Amino acid sequence: MWSLQNLLFILCISLRCVTSAVGVLNVTGYLRREVNISCPYDPGYESYEKYLCKDSCGRGDVLITTTNPVTYKYRTHDDKTARIFTTTISDLRSMDAGKYWCGVKKFLKDIYTEVKLKLVKDSCCGTVTKILNYQGYSVSISCPYEPQYQNSLKYICRGNRPSICLQQALITSDNKENGRFRLDDDKMLKKFTVNITSLSQEDSGSYLCGVQRNFHLDVFSAVLLEVEEFCCVKSTKINGTVGHPLTLQCPYPSQHRDNRKFLCKGDQHNSCMDMTNQSRFTVHDNVSSSSFWVIIAELEAADAGTYWCGSDSQWKVGNYTKMELSVLQQTLGTLEANNPALYVVYIITPVLLLMCALFIVYKYRCSTVKGDEATGRNARNKL
Ligand SMILES: *[C@@H]1O[C@H](CO)[C@@H](O)[C@H](O)[C@H]1NC(C)=O
Ligand SMILES: *[C@@H]1O[C@H](CO)[C@@H](O)[C@H](O)[C@H]1NC(C)=O
Ligand SMILES: *[C@@H]1O[C@H](CO)[C@@H](O)[C@H](O)[C@H]1NC(C)=O
Ligand SMILES: *[C@@H]1O[C@H](CO)[C@@H](O)[C@H](O)[C@H]1NC(C)=O
Ligand SMILES: *[C@@H]1O[C@H](CO)[C@@H](O)[C@H](O)[C@H]1NC(C)=O
Ligand SMILES: *[C@@H]1O[C@H](CO)[C@@H](O)[C@H](O)[C@H]1NC(C)=O
Ligand SMILES: *[C@@H]1O[C@H](CO)[C@@H](O)[C@H](O)[C@H]1NC(C)=O
Repeated sequence: MWSLQNLLFILCISLRCVTSAVGVLNVTGYLRREVNISCPYDPGYESYEKYLCKDSCGRGDVLITTTNPVTYKYRTHDDKTARIFTTTISDLRSMDAGKYWCGVKKFLKDIYTEVKLKLVKDSCCGTVTKILNYQGYSVSISCPYEPQYQNSLKYICRGNRPSICLQQALITSDNKENGRFRLDDDKMLKKFTVNITSLSQEDSGSYLCGVQRNFHLDVFSAVLLEVEEFCCVKSTKINGTVGHPLTLQCPYPSQHRDNRKFLCKGDQHNSCMDMTNQSRFTVHDNVSSSSFWVIIAELEAADAGTYWCGSDSQWKVGNYTKMELSVLQQTLGTLEANNPALYVVYIITPVLLLMCALFIVYKYRCSTVKGDEATGRNARNKL
């Protein structure tokens, strides 16, 4: 498909009649996202038609023109004040990488700027810094950067998508403080620090530290934050029965030896209610076994719930025990087992009656009516 234009283009390139103030424009985009290719042009060409073409720029290689500026994949915008002709290519695929030309349409001899489009994956990075911290505490994420970026915009976002990181930034160096997030840029140490307070398990996950660059993709470093329950909580399940006493065993870290011990009720340790000032709850400490036990007298149905073995009123990081207490109603089975009188009523009586009945039948068959009456009386006396 060698058109006249194609031939002219090749001629033009070989004769070096291509004007290009910037040399080759290098552009990098993220796969599956969009990229802007911005070509400046000289004064005087504001009203000329511009276009973007690929490879050898034949007639079939023209992708979009300013005359018809929007298609499914390409959009153009001609900023006549700044004299920049921009084409946006959307939904980038690997086959979109390669050589392009920005063209200004002139009679016979168009003006071309060469563009090289490189595509990279929209994910980051080879190395990931792992950070472990605990619920309710604060964490400091350190993001080092190269010295030439001292005055660049710094930011942090969730996830692992460089292309949308700035757009979804949790905080940037422009607004330093935002809710639980704070950003401090230490230009001497060439790192910025993001402090997140009141951590919860939802804060666990990937983060990207970003540094903005002009004319190039931003630079990133990746962090994986893991927020655990405030260290080493051991969970147990316990069943109790209404009306009965219950003993709960609470081991505690040896460094809490001299602290007050208490039992606290509530789903969260930091908002639970101390139960040990109620008369039904008594605490016994045993320092030599580094544990205490709590006796709850006469369990009530409302005692069901989550309990924490408390040995530090500040709930500083340490090993704690959490207990899920279920309170069961008394069943028939437990009644029989616990009350001998009822045991007689429910078990002994029917057996005795059955034995009597059998005996009566036997006697009736083998003896006189008189003897029969005597045994019947005997059996009733037994009852
Ligand atoms: C674009 O990259 C090439 C090497 O791939 C380099 O020679 C050229 O100078 C770069 N152009 C600009 C404007 O940086
Ligand atoms: C492309 O340029 C438009 C208009 O200036 C802007 O809204 C968009 O964010 C740019 N896209 C990229 C990927 O830089
Ligand atoms: C984060 O900021 C809070 C409040 O300014 C501070 O108390 C805490 O020590 C900081 N945490 C870290 C890890 O720097
Ligand atoms: C508590 O009771 C439930 C059902 O009533 C039972 O499945 C569970 O095994 C019991 N747990 C303990 C620790 O006894
Ligand atoms: C004692 O218990 C009551 C609830 O029964 C509670 O309101 C109060 O704050 C507790 N006092 C202390 C000192 O824990
Ligand atoms: C305390 O714990 C130790 C070791 O388990 C045990 O020998 C001792 O009897 C306990 N003391 C009391 C008062 O229960
Ligand atoms: C929790 O217990 C484990 C093992 O018993 C111990 O290695 C760890 O240091 C303890 N953590 C704290 C914060 O006390």
